[in-house]
Amino acid sequence: MPVELCSPRVVLRQWRDADYEPFAQLNADPHVMEHFPAVLSSAQSHAMADKIRGLIEPRGWGFWAAEHKTSGRFMGFIGLHVPEDALPFQPCVEIGWRLARPFWGQGLASEGARIALAYAFEVLQLPSVVAFTALSNLRSQAVMRRLGMEREVQDFDHPALPDGHALRRHCLYRLNRSQWVAGVSAAPADSA
Ligand SMILES: CC(C)(COP(=O)(O)OP(=O)(O)OC[C@H]1O[C@@H](n2cnc3c(N)ncnc32)[C@H](O)[C@@H]1OP(=O)(O)O)[C@@H](O)C(=O)NCCC(=O)NCCS
Repeated sequence: MPVELCSPRVVLRQWRDADYEPFAQLNADPHVMEHFPAVLSSAQSHAMADKIRGLIEPRGWGFWAAEHKTSGRFMGFIGLHVPEDALPFQPCVEIGWRLARPFWGQGLASEGARIALAYAFEVLQLPSVVAFTALSNLRSQAVMRRLGMEREVQDFDHPALPDGHALRRHCLYRLNRSQWVAGVSAAPADSA
């Protein structure tokens, strides 16, 4: 059964057919896709949604569809993923996010990511979770730091991008389970 997670403002759930159109819109937005090689066509976006949805089916978790709780609107995705590229720090589970612009600047990505991290550490009992992005993607790096993730010393070249590509150099952030547990127990009760 696909896992569903809730925070005060965010629901993380399995994808629905109705999510595909708003997902295609955000994947066609050059601002959302600024730090990716290209915007996606509708067909590419639908194929990506199919793939993400299919990965959630057998194990219950993945890049969940992120829904805005009060309005019920589809915002994008937030969740956990096992990268398929030959990354220098494999094996790993990454946390990732992509939201439509109307949902930026409200703390929604960080809020959703926290419940995904809680699932990763408390249910899946993962030893660590990584996040990585192009050096230019400062917004995404700010989310990583808000979550308490720490930047590893060594940046790396993403193997899916060719030599000389402006987005090839990536930074890597990591949060260990022990850091998560210490952070949760140190946090004031009303900040969960
Ligand atoms: C990366 C991305 C998810 C970040 O979204 P975000 O809204 O900036 O991130 P957060 O949810 O952490 O929100 C933080 C912002 O909300 C503000 N905020 C407003 N109300 C808030 C609240 N109640 N709680 C927390 N923050 C709040 C913060 O001050 C901060 O604003 P700032 O950007 O002006 O500093 C978003 O920019 C995105 O989808 N980008 C495109 C896809 C992408 O690059 N994905 C990552 C690939 S690795």
